[in-house]
Amino acid sequence: MTSSPLVASPVVPDHMMSIPIAAVPAKSRSQIDLNPRRMAFGSQLLDASVVRTLKVGEDKEVYLVFRKSGFSVLKITGVSPLGESADTIRSRLNHEAAFLAHLNGSPAPKLLDKGELEKRVYLETEHIDGVDAATTAAACRKRGGTEGQEMLLRLAQTIGRTYAVLHERGILHGDVQPGHVLIRRDGTAVLLDFGFARPAVSQTSLPTPPERGGLPFFFEPEMARVALARLPSMPTSGPGEQHAVAALIYFLITGAHWQNFRLGWEAMLEDIATLHPLSFHERGIESWPEMEAVLGRALSKLPDARFPSMSAFSLALDCVPMPSMANVPSCSYPFSKPLERALANAALKPMAPVLHGSTVLITPLSSPISC
Ligand SMILES: Nc1ncnc2c1ncn2[C@@H]1O[C@H](COP(=O)(O)OP(=O)(O)OP(=O)(O)O)[C@@H](O)[C@H]1O
Ligand SMILES: [Mg+2]
Repeated sequence: MTSSPLVASPVVPDHMMSIPIAAVPAKSRSQIDLNPRRMAFGSQLLDASVVRTLKVGEDKEVYLVFRKSGFSVLKITGVSPLGESADTIRSRLNHEAAFLAHLNGSPAPKLLDKGELEKRVYLETEHIDGVDAATTAAACRKRGGTEGQEMLLRLAQTIGRTYAVLHERGILHGDVQPGHVLIRRDGTAVLLDFGFARPAVSQTSLPTPPERGGLPFFFEPEMARVALARLPSMPTSGPGEQHAVAALIYFLITGAHWQNFRLGWEAMLEDIATLHPLSFHERGIESWPEMEAVLGRALSKLPDARFPSMSAFSLALDCVPMPSMANVPSCSYPFSKPLERALANAALKPMAPVLHGSTVLITPLSSPISC
């Protein structure tokens, strides 16, 4: 693949390479920082050139940048955060940095640098050349047939194993969602965004997050019950994260969430707390009894009824057979074709900024404070 800027060998115009931020006169530096919230291709940020806007939220900006050493990703606090306080965002980036440093490049991007630029905190990480899990799964579903189905099975197993490795290393992600799982061309998964991560064990120097975060679609029932009762929100737990990963896999296989959740904060929490997952048949796709049984157990309302660990859940996923074993083609690189297509499509998309953060924060008192 050479057509995507995410994977092409770096061809960056000379003028982009030549002006480190320290060399830019103060006046033009502040113009760069204060004007557009989304930085244009070729703008200088630290001593790197902006190649692409990955995300612009109310409080943070994420850029793919290029410097002589290659591509990397810069996550930096906004110039004047609109939602949360600058201190909150600063401490969340520091929190994330601690976990990235601890994980040292697996199964998360390697932390390359961390610092402050004119009171804006930033993290620089390795750039992961991959496609988010939702896009990958959509390409597999579109492909259809036994081949597409086998790709979905492998995707589910890969994600299960990646989370099992994370938990075995004593870390809970705390923010499971399709945009935080990138699939590389070789089919391996990398997890992003450790701003709400939590140590699974108590004896550690790693920090605990002051609040819960995440997308409500992936909340576990016990968390929903606590939030409905307006009790202090419960910390991310191993069984809770197992539920979230199962909800993610259900979403990737079927293209829809495990229930037709009602919109509205309380209504959705009630649905999460009380309803059982729709069968694949009820979701309008072919039944897959073995996969549905494994996901059904991980999506149990009671934590004790789930698998005893993420590793046990992952092992159960590894044992799920294809829905129909007839005519399964041998396929040594199951992700390569849909990924090629997804990467090519991503390269064609305009660089549209995302203007609203997708994360709902729960304060220690369980009230939603931003969306
Ligand atoms: N290391 C990386 N390699 C490739 N893409 C990345 C990397 N880090 C972030 N991204 C892209 O940027 C997006 C936003 O990153 P991230 O979730 O870490 O930021 P965020 O500001 O915390 O976002 P949100 O609040 O919406 O969760 C990711 O969904 C992904 O598409
Ligand atoms: Mg994120």
